[in-house]
Amino acid sequence: MTPPHEDALRQQQPEHDYEFRDALIAGLTSTPKRIPSKYFYDGAGSKLFEQICALPEYYPTRTELALLRRHVSEITALFGADVEIVEFGAGAIEKIRPLLDVAERPLAYIPVDISGPYLRSVAAKLDAEYPDLLVRPVVADFTQSLPDTIFSDGARRIGFFPGSTIGNFEPHEAVQFLRQTAQLVRGGGLLIGVDLVKDPAILHAAYNDDIGVTAAFNKNLLVRANREGLANFDPSRFTHYAFYNPVAQRIEMYLMSSTAQRVTIAGRTLRFAEGEAIHTEWSQKYTVEGFRSLAASAGFNPRAVWCDSERLFSIHWLEAV
Ligand code: AVI
Repeated sequence: MTPPHEDALRQQQPEHDYEFRDALIAGLTSTPKRIPSKYFYDGAGSKLFEQICALPEYYPTRTELALLRRHVSEITALFGADVEIVEFGAGAIEKIRPLLDVAERPLAYIPVDISGPYLRSVAAKLDAEYPDLLVRPVVADFTQSLPDTIFSDGARRIGFFPGSTIGNFEPHEAVQFLRQTAQLVRGGGLLIGVDLVKDPAILHAAYNDDIGVTAAFNKNLLVRANREGLANFDPSRFTHYAFYNPVAQRIEMYLMSSTAQRVTIAGRTLRFAEGEAIHTEWSQKYTVEGFRSLAASAGFNPRAVWCDSERLFSIHWLEAV
């Protein structure tokens, strides 16, 4: 049987993305070589990520969802009534749904995502399910500051940022994001999912799954570059390599060239030495106290925190006064 992640890779159509081309050239001509993690999420990459979320080794998604369901009454009591909820990244509908089901008269749901087609499909589903809710999708890069006008005048503003996506930001970007979000949702708050520091063996397994979906997700960067006519990578000559760096408290993910090779990228021939690594992702892990301090330094007032009994994952309610 064809592994489902290979099907996902084949379904993609070529598309032209000059931003990706420029990022490839800049990242692969720098030392060390790198490709920013935001380029994982084309259509095929997003499907692979959905598959990662369902893997037995990848605990964050199911742990966060269980926490949201278990504490939904407390969480929505903190939201208050007549709220407008902005979700950064328009992720899995299953995470916003329990909140919308229990919140007191939620007025609007504003998913923000760079991918228009994905956003529209999420918005259409929720629109059909919640006839009294205004679903107002915004196509934008949520790491850039968003205008106040995404909210109605006078609405209580709630931000929702699940999945520990904050961990994929560079440290200075995480602070910058929290700072601008504290401004955006002032008078309300931010509900944010944050993955925790833990036994490195659990982390290692989560980013090195047995059936190789994470490896396919990582290599999709190369497959995507080929598919978009930007490069002639041979993905079989690169290896997925992910490990936990206990000093920096983050998973670091790389694609390692298994041989010396040359690759043509946007008309330029680039050399890869045997064993040379392309950095593709950081996934920062936090302690509860470490994340609360970070949020406080960005202008939030950290309030409630919910963790599972194994302390794998945390959800924080940060007030923006
Ligand atoms: C989206 N993000 C929070 C995931 C993570 O765990 O850092 C992306 C991911 N990379 C490999 N597996 C999952």
